[in-house]
Amino acid sequence: MTQVRHFLDLWRLDGAELRVILDDARARKKARLGWPKGKPDADRPADGRTLAMIFEKHSTRTRFSFDAAMRQLGGDVIISNASEMQLGRGEPIEDTARVLSRMVDAIMIRANYHEDVERLALASTVPVINGLSDKGHPCQILADLLTFEEHFGKVEGKTLAWVGDGNNVCASFIHAAPKLGFRLNIASPAIYHPDLVDLARAQEQQGRVMTTHDPREAVRGADCVITDTWVSMGDTDHDERLEALEPYQVDEKLMALANPNAGFLHCLPAHRGEEVTDEVIDGPRSLIWDEAENRIHAQKSILAWCFGAIG
Ligand code: CP
Ligand code: NVA
Repeated sequence: MTQVRHFLDLWRLDGAELRVILDDARARKKARLGWPKGKPDADRPADGRTLAMIFEKHSTRTRFSFDAAMRQLGGDVIISNASEMQLGRGEPIEDTARVLSRMVDAIMIRANYHEDVERLALASTVPVINGLSDKGHPCQILADLLTFEEHFGKVEGKTLAWVGDGNNVCASFIHAAPKLGFRLNIASPAIYHPDLVDLARAQEQQGRVMTTHDPREAVRGADCVITDTWVSMGDTDHDERLEALEPYQVDEKLMALANPNAGFLHCLPAHRGEEVTDEVIDGPRSLIWDEAENRIHAQKSILAWCFGAIG
């Protein structure tokens, strides 16, 4: 039996596979320039296939982009909030995996706990995609790297700076850095430091990931500055976070220390006036709308990879 291609974490894929996905996304996006958004790509690599999407948390971009992506690949989707499924009443996630594996061709899950994504994948005979967990957001980071490369060329050898909470999105950047050969500078307060297991793995893989408590040190010489909300879904220490992360706001003064023309990325939703100022997020260096659109293009190629159509 051939191995099922799950897409759970970027550290599990090799750099060549990630490169295939990124290049396919770029080519697919170019090939359909100016087309209506619902028109399928010429090769319809998901023809006849259905993706199930399970949401344990809120979503706008992930939900709509996966739906649009499947339509553009010539496939279909079934979407449900976990709270409306028996999963929400305690049915084991393994049983959910076994049932859905008989009904659909792939499963995307946005889960509270990464462990549940892993359990779903272990019991599933169809590909499982991590649409965000507490430990990572791999689909987002491929969209971000696609966006970066559209504006600045290959990410290999470039410097990306993460400023703020060392959260799930930051984790997926750490996973990608050694695979694609970019430098990653992370500035976060000690209390909201990135995951130490992720940092140790990146180091083992010769990743050039630097951590500091000083945002200025992180952005100096960076080709792109990235941040995210200070309070992620599931975080309960709202006030402590706002206080500890206040010195990590991305404003024009901080952007001025990065390379001239450095880009700004944010996965959204954003909290203007907290992690980023209006001037930066709505300014000329902000790439956030391309970044949001690229969720569709990156995910089409992730799906095509899961279905064995590429790579
Ligand atoms: N960036 C992102 O995943 O957005 P949603 O939470 O709206 O899906
Ligand atoms: N870090 C954020 C990302 C949202 C897309 C969260 O987990 O809520």
